[in-house]
Amino acid sequence: HKDLLGLRGLEKKDIELILDTAAPMKDIIGRDIKKVPTMRGKSVVCLFYEASTRTRTSFELAGKYMSADTVNIAASSSSVVKGESLIDTGKTIDAMGTDIIIIRHGASGAPHLLAKHVKARIVNAGDGAHEHPTQALLDMFTIRERKGTLQGLTVTILGDIFHSRVARSNIWGLRTMGADVRVCGPSTLLPPDIAELGVKAYTRIDEALEGADVVNVLRLQLERQQKGLFPTIREYARTFGLNQERLKRCKPDVLVLHPGPMNRGVEIADDVADADFAAIEEQVTNGVAVRMAILYLMGGTSSGIAH
Ligand code: CP
Repeated sequence: HKDLLGLRGLEKKDIELILDTAAPMKDIIGRDIKKVPTMRGKSVVCLFYEASTRTRTSFELAGKYMSADTVNIAASSSSVVKGESLIDTGKTIDAMGTDIIIIRHGASGAPHLLAKHVKARIVNAGDGAHEHPTQALLDMFTIRERKGTLQGLTVTILGDIFHSRVARSNIWGLRTMGADVRVCGPSTLLPPDIAELGVKAYTRIDEALEGADVVNVLRLQLERQQKGLFPTIREYARTFGLNQERLKRCKPDVLVLHPGPMNRGVEIADDVADADFAAIEEQVTNGVAVRMAILYLMGGTSSGIAH
């Protein structure tokens, strides 16, 4: 694969290769001196049209830990504000000898469009409500690390499914890896094509949590809600907020994930977010490891890994 645009259609062996490669990368993050020469001489540009803390910073650090030259471009402080198009922006970055472009964009399909016009490899860091493949890969890495496998697990994705690229990438990836995926949220926040995604949809949280091995809680995307949409934040918190009481329906060793940023007290209670059975900070660390693996597989110079 030249690019990583989404998890839909990615084969099990490709996902396993990324997760297997991320494991030794995590050891590097734990070292006192976090520097290996694997990507020396390679250049990585993070091109972000939308806000980010975790994804942008972890890609930058992932590149730096492997000695790549990393550069960040926020669209809001670039010539995009003068009207430069996505394709012209991409070609400009390409012409500087860039090896890998990491792009986040509000429009679904923007990374796919860019990939058609540049020589650099493209990684989708989130496109509209479409896909966020590296988030789903780090989620799967975290689940596999805690549970030993993904095969046969029941994973409930809870919340604003409609606006969620994280949900879509998790659905494709988890299904490929043999997990049983449920989604749950108010009917107004379930996408109309849910039946085509191969998951079971629930509007009652207690049913969706029954016997779950993993609950992946999504952020209520307040910035993407249409005004007046049901439910209100207060109604949502009361009906779908994940708390200790509701978690009793899950398996006793349930694992709770959240991609961040969290609306504490809305989709997740404080004492759930901060509990030992939640892995929210671990997900952030794993995000660096998984992004190191992706950059390495796309451009690293060591032998033994298919590029
Ligand atoms: N989970 C995630 O994508 O976070 P950021 O928006 O901070 O990158």
